[in-house]
Amino acid sequence: MAVIGTGLMGRGIAYAAAAGGFDVSLHDVSGEALNRALIQIRKDMEEAVARGKMPAEDVKAALARLQPDQELDSDADFVIEAIPEDISLKLRIFARLDRVCREDVVLATNTSGLSITEIAAVTKRPGRVAGMHFFNPVPKMKLVEIVRGLETSDATVAAVAEVAARMNKETVTVKESPGFITSRVNALIGNEAFLMLQEGVASARDIDKALKLGLNHPMGPFELVDLVGLDTRLSVLEFLHKSMGEKYKPATLLVQYVKAGRLGRKAGRGVYEYPDEPR
Ligand code: NAI
Repeated sequence: MAVIGTGLMGRGIAYAAAAGGFDVSLHDVSGEALNRALIQIRKDMEEAVARGKMPAEDVKAALARLQPDQELDSDADFVIEAIPEDISLKLRIFARLDRVCREDVVLATNTSGLSITEIAAVTKRPGRVAGMHFFNPVPKMKLVEIVRGLETSDATVAAVAEVAARMNKETVTVKESPGFITSRVNALIGNEAFLMLQEGVASARDIDKALKLGLNHPMGPFELVDLVGLDTRLSVLEFLHKSMGEKYKPATLLVQYVKAGRLGRKAGRGVYEYPDEPR
């Protein structure tokens, strides 16, 4: 397998692939990012051992399966791309992957919302291009959304599902559409929570508590949005609003929080205050 882009998601994908027994080549435009990823994967695996989630003897074997590939000349049988969410970058890398990889190789993208059909169209193998949407942190999160573009073949969906299963993931299949399944539902829940807060229906703490204890959500919507970033959530909602209508109109309070710089944990404050986190 080749993993293209070794940032937050790419290194998690490489971790899960190596732990699942794949030989993985890692490629990144930045040599520094590549080295950082290899160091981080080792650290994450050591932590998994300490938490009893991975047998110590598996770590050495998994790490030995990871190879840096600065030049993108690997002879992979399956490719997962995780470079930044920028359509022009994705189109360029897919055109290049299409030239470099054998024609039977499946090219998967971890895009959160760009069009698989548009990405596939720059290749000569649109039937062998699919979305493979992982969740952060990849080693811990069970789900992969398999996203079908217009021309993605059944055989490609089956191949992606098999690879995901070997990476110890569960899959769902979804047609290319804004927000797929998870982001669409999650954006609405998060927005509804902001609407309730701005209407004074309940406090942020009580809305979080209600969803956790009454609906069994592992985190409250405000705890979650503080982790994800309010700016990230707002941009997802703006995209859904533009593509699917008024139901997704971002709550005024969310827009105000973003304007005020209350972006979540990363900013030291979001819906809640995080005095100990960097600002
Ligand atoms: P990131 O910014 O952490 O990592 C991107 C990596 O790609 C960087 O190491 C960068 O040096 C490298 N890169 C940039 N241009 C490149 C090129 N032309 N060729 C090779 N490498 C290149 O980004 P992150 O968060 O890992 O996101 C990657 C993709 O995964 C995006 O499409 C994003 O929408 C998607 N995604 C992100 C999630 C998240 O929670 N961050 C969740 C699910 C999907």
